[in-house]
Amino acid sequence: MKKIAVVGTGYVGLVTGTCFAETGNNVICVDIDKQKVDRMQNGEVPIYEPYLDVVFERNVQANRLSFTTNLKDAVDFAEIIFLALPTPPGEDGSADLSYILGVAEELGKIITEYKVIVDKSTVPVGTAFKVNEMISKNAKVDFDVVSNPEFLREGFAVDDFLKPERVIIGTSSKRAQTIMEQLYRPFVRQGNPIIFMDEESAELTKYAANSFLATKITFMNEIANFCEIVGANVDKVRMGIGSDSRIGKRFLFPGIGYGGSCFPKDVKALVKSGNDHDYSFEILKSVISVNDVQKTALIPKIKNYFKGDLKDKKIAIWGLAFKPNTDDIREAPALFIIEALISEGASINVYDPEAMDNMKGLMSNKISFAQDEYQVLEQADALVICTEWGVFRNPDFVEIAKKMNDRVIFDGRNLYNLQDMNDRGFYYSSIGREIINYD
Ligand SMILES: NC(=O)c1ccc[n+]([C@@H]2O[C@H](COP(=O)([O-])OP(=O)(O)OC[C@H]3O[C@@H](n4cnc5c(N)ncnc54)[C@H](O)[C@@H]3O)[C@@H](O)[C@H]2O)c1
Repeated sequence: MKKIAVVGTGYVGLVTGTCFAETGNNVICVDIDKQKVDRMQNGEVPIYEPYLDVVFERNVQANRLSFTTNLKDAVDFAEIIFLALPTPPGEDGSADLSYILGVAEELGKIITEYKVIVDKSTVPVGTAFKVNEMISKNAKVDFDVVSNPEFLREGFAVDDFLKPERVIIGTSSKRAQTIMEQLYRPFVRQGNPIIFMDEESAELTKYAANSFLATKITFMNEIANFCEIVGANVDKVRMGIGSDSRIGKRFLFPGIGYGGSCFPKDVKALVKSGNDHDYSFEILKSVISVNDVQKTALIPKIKNYFKGDLKDKKIAIWGLAFKPNTDDIREAPALFIIEALISEGASINVYDPEAMDNMKGLMSNKISFAQDEYQVLEQADALVICTEWGVFRNPDFVEIAKKMNDRVIFDGRNLYNLQDMNDRGFYYSSIGREIINYD
């Protein structure tokens, strides 16, 4: 059993704290957001993440998981302190380290005995060194700073954390290495590796992984765009190349670009790190600009269908979250599409199974919110699909046709079979495939 503090209880911190409690450790989670801490103290999980509520409740009941706003109490209690704090993009694309360095400065004043301080946030190379310096300004006792980037995916976060494909630990301290290995051993019983390395390599591993994945998606989006020009079908091309084991089947689905709180900011931060060292990441610069266009790739198609005039057209949106199984709308393609449609004069009605509250916080005065996936379609001139939630994959097309003014779908996630859409009598425009124009 280890005593752990997790500072920052967002998507990463809360899952980290809950899953460490699940393997028998005692965990105190700290957040500056008092309202959020109050909710957690009352047994409420403040984010939507599948299965998190079950594990959360079990560990709260067993007194292995608790919440506070008091950093000192948590730090006094813990031997290992995880920093799961935001690292949002600054004006110039660099990762904003103010949250991490701010807490590091506090830690230096607070710690009274040896602690392992673990950076779980995604941070540029050299951050472990900076955190070390910041703590050292005030610390009177020994401590180690470890880089332990997190690879969980929102929507699968609990499973990813409990059964990680690998754990990356960046440290130059034998003492910290032993503690971290003991902590993570229960999670890799199937034989997945805990990979130890220096702090800089660990920090870069996270950016390299996310930038590679963003590149893979963007490459497929460019292939899809070219398919539309030459009359090829990207679904066929995807299956054709994905069966090559060097390429692999995963992450090859084309769509309306990557979003979320990680890929956009991490690719930009790596480019900025490159610039800081006089290195120009040409591939990643292209990935950013291609993705910026791809997020609104449906807009010219929609305008074209309505002969350039979207004024007062009623557009229904299915899906706001940047991907299914999360309520996270940060940098979601839906936001860019909705803004573009509003600026063309369209009126927007939206539905998402989990992200409605977050969207209300952002755009409540500009759009209307429906109760379910069919109500949103009432009197709609077109439906735009932005997120591939399971509930949208096999809907009742008779009901859809009944509710809408016209059977018109723009699908940013390629959910439906072209022949089926033709048979159902829809106008159906997707990504990298021919337009079905039933007349
Ligand atoms: N979300 C993901 O899928 C994911 C995956 C891997 C890595 N990451 C990285 O993990 C880090 C955290 O991401 P997230 O999505 O969990 O962020 P988040 O915004 O969901 O959560 C951050 C939390 O930190 C709290 N906080 C801010 N300042 C604080 C302070 N001084 N003391 C205590 N709490 C404070 C906020 O109130 C919030 O609850 C980022 O660096 C991110 O890039 C995120």
